[in-house]
Amino acid sequence: MRTRVEPVTPASLREAGALIRAGELVGMPTETVYGLGANALDARAVLRVFEAKGRPADNPLIVHVADRDAILPLVREIPLAAERLMDAFWPGPMTLVLPKADCIPDAVSAGLSTVGIRLPGSEAARALIRAAGRPIAAPSGNRSGRPSPTTAVHMLEDMDGRIPLILDAGPCAVGVESSVIDATGPVPVILRPGGVTPEMVARVAGDVRVDPHVMRPLSEGETARSPGMKYRHYAPKAKTVVYRGLGAPEAIRRRYDEAETAGERPVILGLNDRGYGARAFISLGGADRPQDAAARLFSALREADARGATLALCEAVDEKGIGLAVMNRMGRAAGFDIVDV
Ligand code: TXA
Ligand code: MG
Repeated sequence: MRTRVEPVTPASLREAGALIRAGELVGMPTETVYGLGANALDARAVLRVFEAKGRPADNPLIVHVADRDAILPLVREIPLAAERLMDAFWPGPMTLVLPKADCIPDAVSAGLSTVGIRLPGSEAARALIRAAGRPIAAPSGNRSGRPSPTTAVHMLEDMDGRIPLILDAGPCAVGVESSVIDATGPVPVILRPGGVTPEMVARVAGDVRVDPHVMRPLSEGETARSPGMKYRHYAPKAKTVVYRGLGAPEAIRRRYDEAETAGERPVILGLNDRGYGARAFISLGGADRPQDAAARLFSALREADARGATLALCEAVDEKGIGLAVMNRMGRAAGFDIVDV
């Protein structure tokens, strides 16, 4: 199969919608990352998503809708706190975990009694869902374990030959996946941080909890509240280490120089103006703009591989606002190998 990349036009939307209805997979641009979309109500189509990604069957998919009314048949109940979050942050980079209705195939929810629902901010994503006339189940469009794609070309790298079509709406504005929030109870619990931050959720819902596994790995015997937490993620081929704290730039410079002397190919994923000099450097933007680090992190991890780096030294950002999402992804890319300095 040849994979075509097409700009978003009325004609490409019509074609993509027909492919979804026919049980095929389509690359779907969103404001967070590119997704691998399938008809969420077609169990066979959904199984192809798991196959194309190489994704473990016990990791559930998010169901995307184009308007609020489309949710009603998909869930059994919408608690008040969930309603408030929808009012405040949809359309946008937020997924709400709600009790699922029977029409959602088990393949989507991986056998859980809940389903993650998202109304994306991206105009192109909503246009595709409308063209399909179906809710679209879509995980991030990477092969399992790879950094999520934030451009159509990155998605093509992973999915070439596996799907017929990727719609190209340019680079994703947010750059990290949606916040996944368990909204089944009275206090929302952030299972995966994203563009809708804990601070934003607390302001609307009065209270918020952040699952402790956002910044540490599961230990043996612990079960994940969100199945995605237990898998290795976002990892480039290079050994990846995160340096956190005021001493980070200096520690990174030292480790870089030692590694280079030892014949390795280090690269720095860091913030601007940290005195990294002529060392191999991929910028995550300025220290005061964590949203830029969010937009750049996944392509920086891919770039590290493209440069043939054997060691990626990452500079932490503050865990405030969207910085928490950046640090969650960076931590996971490094297998939580985080050095405090
Ligand atoms: O921004 C996004 O959310 C992107 C775009 C394409 O919308 N999608 C995305 O999907 O990141 P995926 O499959 O790569 O990540 C979904 C995460 C996984 O960690 C999964 O375990 C969790 O959401 N999840 C999905 N349904 C869940 C549920 N019912 N309960 C708990 N966690 C759930
Ligand atoms: Mg993913």
